Amino acid sequence: MEFKIQQKATKKHQLYIIDDLGKLNQVAGITTEETSYAKAVFNAEQTQVTLNRYGYFNFIYLLKSKKTEAQTNEACRKAGAELQAICNKHKLDEITLTNCSAQANAALLVAEGVALANYQFLKYRTEAKKLTNTLTRIFFTKDSATVKEVAQLETIVDAIYRARTLVNEPLSYLTAEQLAKEIAAMGKAGGFKVTILNKARIEKEKMGGLLSVNRGSIDPPTFTIMEYVPKKALNKKPIVLVGKGVVYDTGGLSLKPTPNSMDRMKSDMGGAALVSGAMYAIAKMQLPVHVIALVPATDNRPGENAYVPGDVITMMSGATVEVLNTDAEGRMILGDALHWAKQYKPELVIDFATLTGAASAAVGEHGIVCMGTAAEDTKQAFRDSGNRQYERLVEYPLWDEYGDQIKSDIADIKNVGGATGGAITAGKFLEHFTNYPWMHFDIAGVSFAMAKKGYNTVGGTAYGMRMLLDFLMHYGKA
Ligand code: BES
Ligand code: MN
Ligand code: ZN
Repeated sequence: MEFKIQQKATKKHQLYIIDDLGKLNQVAGITTEETSYAKAVFNAEQTQVTLNRYGYFNFIYLLKSKKTEAQTNEACRKAGAELQAICNKHKLDEITLTNCSAQANAALLVAEGVALANYQFLKYRTEAKKLTNTLTRIFFTKDSATVKEVAQLETIVDAIYRARTLVNEPLSYLTAEQLAKEIAAMGKAGGFKVTILNKARIEKEKMGGLLSVNRGSIDPPTFTIMEYVPKKALNKKPIVLVGKGVVYDTGGLSLKPTPNSMDRMKSDMGGAALVSGAMYAIAKMQLPVHVIALVPATDNRPGENAYVPGDVITMMSGATVEVLNTDAEGRMILGDALHWAKQYKPELVIDFATLTGAASAAVGEHGIVCMGTAAEDTKQAFRDSGNRQYERLVEYPLWDEYGDQIKSDIADIKNVGGATGGAITAGKFLEHFTNYPWMHFDIAGVSFAMAKKGYNTVGGTAYGMRMLLDFLMHYGKA
């Protein structure tokens, strides 16, 4: 979408954001009748009023403070999603936001909700033209946002759109090699370096985890390395992002039952989409942080040469893994990526992975399960970002006893930890391959939506990206 700051002629579609009925008189040309109509609607607990000015619309949103600032902010985004639906219903092509409320960022938050709700994935629809939303532009009046804020919002929305589209692309298009190509294109557009390791190079590097998962596939794996170096970085050592890039998860020989449990498994590269979208935004906004991102990618299939339950795999780190369930493949490919990250002597490593059904079962679609060895102030910064962006975090413990659950009789560790604590035993497996401050985000429950909900459209959500970008935008600042 296009975002602009302009002094707009009043005779165009406008949204006025007010936080007090006394401010209704700030709506240009509002009549006494309209004022009492608006008051009646708002008093009936509705939050949006439409005034049809015959030729253009005036919308009014009554912003009400909630218990916390985070909840008030989220209410603004949700109001944006409602406005998006109304605009398209009336076939409007643009909307101008005017903030008359005391909350300085209200128009930006509403715009975020409008833009995120306006995402569509129509590539495979023959009637795409007819189905396309009419709304394409959001304007702000001069006092409603700053030029920098608007530019940043435009970039973040662009990054989220790109990530959602990657998730929505099915395996019939998005193989591991295609994913690497898409990331390379994003590097060109955003301004960061992309290096793709092919199968021969992956073999040379002895990435045993990635290669074992790939054995049942007919398509080769890829390992993609992204890097953004700013002119002046706040961090001395790089921050490394890691994203799980399973372009399709059948479970392998430990085949997932179909239907239902396999239906959304094209989204098992949600972590990869999130970190590559984030790299695009980081580079485009020229954030003063040195960031590297790693995406190990393959599909997980039960082909003729597939790895089998009982196999012992030597990982890139040299650690041996007894595979007892080929459906616990994410940790196999991530183990190699986390080991690879060691060479950068990173300040912090952050992984995003659709890793366990257990995380999804525990907190559903309302938050992210996280755990890690990062310092307490880093964890607090993540929590704050999660609250600000309403992509909230629930931290799980990495107690030693969970590590006991992945001890193997014949290898260093095994890739499953039994019936209980599944999200954490997966985390303990990953921890085995780290020697630096690290955070793990299990986005299994949030990366894909079966139905539209507010500003999260159906399909890929990129949920977690705004939390990550908020964290990086505050990084190194007290
Ligand atoms: N990709 C799945 C996790 C998943 C489940 C993501 C549901 C999104 C929605 C992962 O590879 C997986 O299969 N995990 C197994 C691990 C188990 C075999 C130890 C799981 O959670 O059941
Ligand atoms: Mn799996
Ligand atoms: Zn998976």
